[in-house]
Amino acid sequence: MCGIVAYVGDRKAFPILVNGLKRLEYRGYDSSGVALAQNGSIALYKKQGMVKAMEDHALLNDTSGTTGIAHTRWATHGQPSDENAHPHLSNSGNLVLVHNGIIENYQSLKDLLKSEGFVFHSETDTEVLVNFIQYVQDKEQCKLRKAVRLALTQVVGAYAICIYDKDKPEEIVVAKMGSPLVIGLGKDEKFIGSDATPFLEYTKEAIYLEDGEMASIIAGEELDIRLIKTDGTVAPVIHKLQMDLESIEKGGYDYFMMKEIYEQPRAIYDTFRGRLLPEQGMIKMSGMEEYADKFRNADRIIMTACGTSWHSALVAEYLFEEFARIPVEVEYGSEFRYRNPVIRKNDIVIAISQSGETADTLAAIKMAKSAGAMVFGICNVAGSSIARETHAGAYTHAGPEIGVASTKAFTSQVTILTMMALELGKIRGEFSTSEYRALLNELNNIPKKIEKVLEKKELIEQISALYKDATNFLYLGRGVNFPIALEGALKLKEISYIHAEGYPAAEMKHGPIALIDENMPVVVVAPNNGHYEKLVSNVQEVKAREGKVIAIVTEGDKELLDSSDHVIEIPETLEALTPLLTVIPLQLLSYYIAVMRGCDVDRPRNLAKSVTVE
Ligand code: F6R
Repeated sequence: MCGIVAYVGDRKAFPILVNGLKRLEYRGYDSSGVALAQNGSIALYKKQGMVKAMEDHALLNDTSGTTGIAHTRWATHGQPSDENAHPHLSNSGNLVLVHNGIIENYQSLKDLLKSEGFVFHSETDTEVLVNFIQYVQDKEQCKLRKAVRLALTQVVGAYAICIYDKDKPEEIVVAKMGSPLVIGLGKDEKFIGSDATPFLEYTKEAIYLEDGEMASIIAGEELDIRLIKTDGTVAPVIHKLQMDLESIEKGGYDYFMMKEIYEQPRAIYDTFRGRLLPEQGMIKMSGMEEYADKFRNADRIIMTACGTSWHSALVAEYLFEEFARIPVEVEYGSEFRYRNPVIRKNDIVIAISQSGETADTLAAIKMAKSAGAMVFGICNVAGSSIARETHAGAYTHAGPEIGVASTKAFTSQVTILTMMALELGKIRGEFSTSEYRALLNELNNIPKKIEKVLEKKELIEQISALYKDATNFLYLGRGVNFPIALEGALKLKEISYIHAEGYPAAEMKHGPIALIDENMPVVVVAPNNGHYEKLVSNVQEVKAREGKVIAIVTEGDKELLDSSDHVIEIPETLEALTPLLTVIPLQLLSYYIAVMRGCDVDRPRNLAKSVTVE
């Protein structure tokens, strides 16, 4: 979490830094700050709250510097406050640093520094780091780059840092271990970001720093990239950025979340592109082709992910077992990494992550690799840590997802996983050609059918108005739609702060039914295939206890129309593909309820888009 931006060049740094921070607010938004090099000193502006608060405060002062570093924070050590906001100064007042990550041994470093007379003004691990670098520099009487390198060899934890010295502001030193850092290359200027969005309008050339690397960045000079451990030089690999500015702006919507919900038909087409070939009756996924033998002979698939991405893995569990008849286990990254799981050479691990930076998923991947498993990554962000750490993989190509609540990334992940399940079923000889083709054709129709679900917007808005003040919600589903019940509940709680739980419908009578009374809205995901009749009975059970039922049903449904309080229809589709449609009304329901409750939908409290801490 936390976002970093830095600039060195001829332009005024402040507007570039502030714009960049606003684009990175998805990484944290409890406080922010900038440090500008001007008139031989460091102008430091920091404020609790959104970037705008800091911007307004800074604009009352001088912001003319052409070198600067900036930060938007998601608190780890110390609560959100002006003091704990980054950048942090060293005791000498010469060094200034921004940091994304966690320094695990900060307490022992802090004790050492205190015994040497250092004082601290914040509760952060970052202030310890900047002072530790100063301590090493004073001791070794060396240049900043060397002091950073030597200090980092004694640091345990995760970091992406930018630091400069007020007496030599033309050079920014950066380093990376575990948290992302991208360097944008302009003609006589350079940009640094936690991702490339802060500098998209200035350059399309970028270098993604790898773990264990650091660089000295000077406006008009070649980059000097080194290994932190050995000081060995590293040849830079320049990437051409594909993203455009439009894709990271709101495009007339009130919130990114709504824009991203509406982008789903297009996002799914982009996920298909070049891969789903219904006329030729085939799926082409190069990442799978490369490891076709491994997939053919695998004994088991383990899927690992967190949050919404974990829900897409749960959907995939049904599909892989159904289509490819291969055992699947779904693991939270955080649990998997800290157990001693049995991983065999013939296992394939599929790691799923929108951001490609989730610390627990990344750690789970590293563990699976060291146990000898082949790891396949499904990520949305190109060049992300997970994309680089896995043996092979597939990008979802959903485009940047900026709203903290995941929507289009989820449906794109389910789309990729559906294609993989189909392909695996084919590779392993589990399908008849006609069955396979029917699924391919219907998958190809899904974006059009999502458009039809989006037309239900007004109805969903009206239903939302009726339930916006509820304090609890229950979501029920069965089979492949049980994970959709979980996802619906997660969406509602994260953006509207209403307590919500997802359950397999049959589990209701084992406990949750006690919660049902006339104040409890129950959302039932009940398309007409799968376990429809069972769900009809579950709805009766809820109604018998006066619960309010909002049912997601297939067009033309009569039974649930009569017994439910509200129905939202989705077009008919094959059972395996229903999650791609049933999730859409649940996204809209949580969106409208959150907006009606006055919540900041794109930036829900306490959350961040990219969870780079464990
Ligand atoms: C919920 C949400 C989170 C993420 C989770 C994993 O809407 O977005 O639950 O799904 O933090 O993030 P990624 O997919 O980036 O690994």
